[in-house]
Amino acid sequence: MSHQVMGSSTYLRKLAGFLAFLCFLSISAFSSASPQHIYKHGQRKSLSESWSGRFLQEMVPLHNTSRKLPDTLVHRITNHKNNVHSPKSIAPAPSSVPHFEHAPEPAPKCSTPPSPALVLQEFLFPLGGAPFNSCHASTIVEVESGVFLAAYFGGSHEGAPDVKIWIQIYKDGVWSYPDAVDEEPGIPMWNPVLFRMPNNDILLFYKIGPEVQKWSGFMKRSKDGGRSWSSREQLPPGILGPSKNKPLLMENGQLVCGSSVESYMSWGAWAEVTNDEGETWVKHGPIYSREIAMGVIQPVAYKTNSNSIRFLLRSMFGKVCLAESFDGGFTWTSVRRTDLPNPNSGIDGVKLLDGRLILLYNTISRAFLKVGVSYNDGDTWQEVLTLEEQENNEYSYPSVIQASDNLLHVSYTYNRTQIKHVVLNTDFLN
Ligand SMILES: *[C@@H]1O[C@H](CO)[C@@H](O)[C@H](O)[C@H]1NC(C)=O
Ligand SMILES: *[C@@H]1O[C@H](CO)[C@@H](O)[C@H](O)[C@H]1NC(C)=O
Repeated sequence: MSHQVMGSSTYLRKLAGFLAFLCFLSISAFSSASPQHIYKHGQRKSLSESWSGRFLQEMVPLHNTSRKLPDTLVHRITNHKNNVHSPKSIAPAPSSVPHFEHAPEPAPKCSTPPSPALVLQEFLFPLGGAPFNSCHASTIVEVESGVFLAAYFGGSHEGAPDVKIWIQIYKDGVWSYPDAVDEEPGIPMWNPVLFRMPNNDILLFYKIGPEVQKWSGFMKRSKDGGRSWSSREQLPPGILGPSKNKPLLMENGQLVCGSSVESYMSWGAWAEVTNDEGETWVKHGPIYSREIAMGVIQPVAYKTNSNSIRFLLRSMFGKVCLAESFDGGFTWTSVRRTDLPNPNSGIDGVKLLDGRLILLYNTISRAFLKVGVSYNDGDTWQEVLTLEEQENNEYSYPSVIQASDNLLHVSYTYNRTQIKHVVLNTDFLN
């Protein structure tokens, strides 16, 4: 049931459980703003018409470590009568600072306050508030200062014939309602990747195909920050585009896309390179290990301080793996293990302007999502933050960028039912 409206008690119970699990809590304010737009299921809405649930948002003043935690945790839902959340399920907005009368007990395992690195965490839409059951594989990009786009795939479940690519715009602190940017009747879509070119063109790569082993690469372009999109373009045969993570833009304008192949008993990565925003392509590789045939996929591409290109890779080796190119991406070393764990799960990272390298990764399972920092381009790592840890839940497929204000914007799969947006202050990731 993709359009299930949750009853107020169920909704509150879930919210309470979630608050306990996050363990920094004190309040939840429900406010019901005046109706702006009416959304009906099945009706396409343009992204500029912004309905939004800004959800579980916590603002932490920057550089303010004196702030007492836990602090205000605001739950606000912009609402109207035809929305997925009935006004009846939402208490009227209190006039003063809101409090949750019966604050749930913090989960006992959570003994430490949230890190000062956490500037904001919120969902792109409330639980049950999107026109699909299941979503995964998000990607995030800044289209202009403070304005972001996120895309992901969503439908009945991963690989279901109704899975489409969805997109949302984040402007003035509010996420727009999910809009399907492409769909193929009866065939699922997979792993979108957003990227902004220096001329502000936004590229959206994704795959279409009945299963992973049979998918093909496609793309769309936007010249207006993601408000409108070109028609679908097919990439040349054998070119899949970036498989999960953003491309690396070289000084000469080349895009180096970390691509990978998951064919029968044979996994490996490739560097797919385009000089002209995806019109023409070459690819270099394979990047793989002779040890395990189904070895490494989904590269994270970055440039080192000594101007080599490195790929960090999701792997079947139990560790994040690394391959390196000293000639601009033409030839590659075979892969080696790093110290970072990897349970065959998607990772993403970003090279910060100050030279540090950040990686988001799962540890023993997708129930644990961590942030690591490297001061030597990935040779050694320090774990600096736990974003999520809750057995049996899934927090996976992170996507991370450093925005124009230097903050990190992260999106990731939240239990396959939501996409979470987290903003991190890199000053506290040491
Ligand atoms: C820092 O946080 C404390 C505690 O919340 C607050 O009283 C103070 O005004 C904040 N300082 C700044 C500069 O925001
Ligand atoms: C996450 O999904 C699992 C499996 O469907 C479920 O048991 C669990 O309650 C969910 N957790 C949250 C926080 O929704």
